[in-house]
Amino acid sequence: MKKVNIGILGLGTVGGGTYDILKMNKELITRRTGVDYCVTRVLEINMKAVEAHGVDPAIVTSDVDAILTGDDVDIVIESLGGVEPSSSFMLKALNHGKSVVTPNKAAVAANYEKLTSAAKAHGVQIRIEACVGGGIPALTAITEALAGNEFTDVMGILNGTTNYIMTKMGDEGLAYDAVLKDAQAKGFAEADPTADVEGIDVANKLSILMALAFDKYVAPRDIPTVGITGVTMDDIAAAKAKDCKIKLIAHASIDEAGKLSYEIKPMEIPYSHPLAGVSNEFNAIYVTGNAVGEVMFYGKGAGALPTGSAIVGDVISIMKAMA
Ligand code: HSE
Repeated sequence: MKKVNIGILGLGTVGGGTYDILKMNKELITRRTGVDYCVTRVLEINMKAVEAHGVDPAIVTSDVDAILTGDDVDIVIESLGGVEPSSSFMLKALNHGKSVVTPNKAAVAANYEKLTSAAKAHGVQIRIEACVGGGIPALTAITEALAGNEFTDVMGILNGTTNYIMTKMGDEGLAYDAVLKDAQAKGFAEADPTADVEGIDVANKLSILMALAFDKYVAPRDIPTVGITGVTMDDIAAAKAKDCKIKLIAHASIDEAGKLSYEIKPMEIPYSHPLAGVSNEFNAIYVTGNAVGEVMFYGKGAGALPTGSAIVGDVISIMKAMA
């Protein structure tokens, strides 16, 4: 049986959840892929996390090059977060012939072309399903199952933390600060939740969606973005009076001349609209293709196991190609 070795950079919420799934579902993943895989190295300095996930301390290292360039790693899972040094780490791994899987939307959105070109040049893969919509398999659907479509419109709720905050403020009347703390405790929020509440995380995700759906790269900083920090209880009450909920919506479209339009902002969504029913940390991604029509993807957009599920799915795709 083919053997594949995996290295994990970072055993935080998502890296830890990924490790747990690789361990919990090893038998079925091995059966489905025909690959005997092993996590051979983990980069982590927090020994509490190492212990919590039952990782053998013998495979834990603080030497990132052991994972990026070592002979005993075939696939690198980058789950450190942040643009740097993560982007440089991923490029180094790709340049050493290793495939990379990452949920790091900030790094991918900032360096999409560099990362995909490096993968192509070295005949390996960079897979990014977990970057948008947590456990929702929207990116693989756009690039594989729906790849025969010309896409004209992409719209969605792309951040679990802000959707959780909007839901709890709107449905339960809870205060913003308390709900944000709750979202952080549940592992939905970024290390710096400013990225969530100011819409920066959504801009990273919309940039990736546009690159995949429209083959056009727009840097996240160039996407007009308004977060949820200005949304008040009065705004929520005014929306309610019109049978609407306030949701942080990302929207991009392309016209027949190839002109892109894109923006991110809180919007009043009528109760009758399917996006109004997307609550808590759930995300939804709507795409319109010229063959398939409208398709909506829905599921948990944040959290250790949902995001880990997408990462493991990407690892499985790579292992199948290697088998
Ligand atoms: N902080 C992100 C969110 C995590 O709340 O959606 C998943 O990308």
